[in-house]
Amino acid sequence: MSAPTKQKKTVKASEDATPTLAPANATTATAEPRKRERVFSGIQPSGTPHIGNYLGAIRHWVAEQDAYDNIFCVVNLHAITVPQDPDELRVNTRRLAAMLFACGIDPERSALFVQSQIAEHAELTWILDCMTPMGWLNRMTQFKTKAGDERETVSAGLFTYPVLMAADILLYQADVVPVGDDQRQHVELARDIANSFNHRFGETFVEPRALIREVGARIMALDNPERKMSKSDGEASYIALLDPPDVVRRKIARATTDSQRTIVFDESRAGIFNLLTIYQLLSNQSREQIEAEFAGKGYKEFKAALADIIIATLELIQRRYAELAADPAQLDALLKQSADRLRPLAEDTLRKVKDRVGIV
Ligand code: TYM
Repeated sequence: MSAPTKQKKTVKASEDATPTLAPANATTATAEPRKRERVFSGIQPSGTPHIGNYLGAIRHWVAEQDAYDNIFCVVNLHAITVPQDPDELRVNTRRLAAMLFACGIDPERSALFVQSQIAEHAELTWILDCMTPMGWLNRMTQFKTKAGDERETVSAGLFTYPVLMAADILLYQADVVPVGDDQRQHVELARDIANSFNHRFGETFVEPRALIREVGARIMALDNPERKMSKSDGEASYIALLDPPDVVRRKIARATTDSQRTIVFDESRAGIFNLLTIYQLLSNQSREQIEAEFAGKGYKEFKAALADIIIATLELIQRRYAELAADPAQLDALLKQSADRLRPLAEDTLRKVKDRVGIV
C-alpha cells in the first residue's frame, strides 16, 4: 500500500527536534535531539496474556530496553472495540500492567502506561480517521478475520482500530515498533498514514517501521497449529503466563503433533515445528543442538522437556507478578509516573497536528 501523493524526504529521528523521553526520575520531556531510536509498542488487556505474546513481543521489549527509548502501553481503548465487561476490563488492565513489569519491563528504563491515561490518543485518532481513505482500512486482513460474518453488527471502532494504533505510534514520534507478525499490516498502515499526512501538511510525523523477528513472530495454537495462538480462542489453544505447572504439562501433553516420529524442524509438520520453535526460543539453543538432543527420542520425552522449560520461565514471572499484584497503589503510582512523563510529548505532537490541519 502506498500513499497517493509523490515521495518527499522523510523525517529522520536523528534530525528531529521533538522532545527526548526524559529519564525515569524526571517529570518533563526535554527538547534535546534524540540519542537513541524510540520504540513504541502496545498490548490489549483482553483475556490473559499468553506465551505467543511473550515470545513474539514482550520478551524482545524486555531484552532491548537499553538499546532504545522505550514506551509500552496497555491499550484499553483498543480492547473496547469488542464488548467488554467493565469490571473485568478494569481488573485486566491493571493485571496486564503488573504482568509486563513481572516479565521484566523496568520502570527505570522504560515508560509503561495505560492508553486512556493520555487523552491525546483519542483526539489524534479522530483527526487521522478523517485523513485515512476507507479503501486502506478495507484491506486490513485482521478486521476481515475478526468481523467474519458479523460485518454489519461489529462496532465501527473495530473497523477503524488500526487508525487508533497509528495514533499511538505517531503521537510519540516512534521510530521502531516491535510486534508479532499479525501486526505487520497495521504498522505499515501507520507508516502510510504518516507519509500521506507529511506530504499533505508538511513534515509532522516520524515514519515508523515494524521490527518483527524471524523466529517466534507467529506462535501457533497448541490444539490447531494452522491457526495463530490467540487469547480469544479456547484455553487448550494457549499457555497463559499465569498457568500453573500442572496445567502447562497437561496442555503440552495434549498439543497436536503428527504420526511421524522424528523430532526435527520441518515447517511442513506444523504442530511439532511450533513446539520446537517454543523450545528453541526458551532454551536459546540452535536448531541443530535441539535436534541432536532429541535424536532417537519420542514425543513424550520432548514434550516433558518442553513443559519443564516453560514452567521454569513462568515460575519467575509468576513470582514477581504475585508481589506486584499485592501492591496496587505502587502499580498505579508507576503507571501514573510514566503517563505524566509522556504527556508533554503527546501534547507537543497534537499541537503541531492541529496547527497544520487548522483546528484551533
Ligand atoms: P495484541 O494485544 O493482540 O498482542 C500483543 C503483542 O503480541 C503479539 N502476538 C503474537 N506474537 C507471536 N505469536 C502469536 N501467536 C501472537 N499473538 C500476539 C502481537 O503481534 C503484539 O505484538 N493492536 C495490537 C496492540 C497495539 C499496538 C499499538 C502494538 C495497539 N497499539 C501500537 C504496537 C504499536 C494488538 O492487538 O496486540
